[in-house]
Amino acid sequence: MYTFLNDSFVPDDKAFLHVSDLSIQRGYGIFDFFRVMDSYPLFIEDYLERLYVSAKEMHLKVPYEPEQLKALIFELIQKNNIPMSAIKVILTGGYSPDGYQLADKANLIMVQKPMNFPAAGFPTEGIKIITHEYLRDKPHVKTINYVVGIWIQNKVLEQKAADVLYHYKGEVSEFPRCNFFMVRKDNTVVTPGENILEGVTRKHVLRLAAKKYKIEIGSVTLNDIVQAKEAFLTSTSKRIVPITQMDETIIGDGKPGKVSKDLYNDLVRLESAERLKGT
Ligand SMILES: Cc1ncc(COP(=O)(O)O)c(C=O)c1O
Repeated sequence: MYTFLNDSFVPDDKAFLHVSDLSIQRGYGIFDFFRVMDSYPLFIEDYLERLYVSAKEMHLKVPYEPEQLKALIFELIQKNNIPMSAIKVILTGGYSPDGYQLADKANLIMVQKPMNFPAAGFPTEGIKIITHEYLRDKPHVKTINYVVGIWIQNKVLEQKAADVLYHYKGEVSEFPRCNFFMVRKDNTVVTPGENILEGVTRKHVLRLAAKKYKIEIGSVTLNDIVQAKEAFLTSTSKRIVPITQMDETIIGDGKPGKVSKDLYNDLVRLESAERLKGT
């Protein structure tokens, strides 16, 4: 297995950074993450676009032009030959002279790992989520900072929940690694518009939803969710997962909803069409 490190493909067990890197010293860096299906990186343009935006926002320079980086990703896929997998592209703050100042050069890492795709078919059971008051730093940037998400995992498990939804003063934003959607009683598909990372899956689900339903991008409160007919989360690794309980509140009729299922099926179809681009 190869990892790409700055300018070369190195065996996985030789891919190291020096301890002076700002990601180690101060947790400073950004990344992106996408799935590889039958050796084709799904929606690669969307993920690369977000990577460059995140880098710019954090004053980091990607050491390649997008087309060069894309070619290196295809080379990594060819070298590793793991048809169903995921790739993480990480850009760190680099080797800092004093452990605080940004380095002149960021460090670029591209790691590929086998990944089981979400099970085929829309889930028959919904998940329980809990809520937590927290606003992410630089929410529109895909930073490597997941401190609160990781710290709160014990509580999530204790409450027999599957994830934690962040809100600030009752205004909902997102999960540590997923976006939030709800469906109102009139079938309007609603998702928060602020203080979020603009997920690639969220973008596709919104486009698909707009073809059939009314969509709304804006404020979502915890109370709105209590009134909702359906709720679900979206992410690259999970696609669409129905939510049927939030803290002690059952959402809708407590079962995965029809609109969520419909959008799930549309998303799977979109993935298959995207996958054909690689043939
Ligand atoms: C904070 C945050 N929000 C949302 C998402 C979902 O984004 P995507 O659909 O691009 O995976 C992620 C993905 O890891 C994330 O880290």
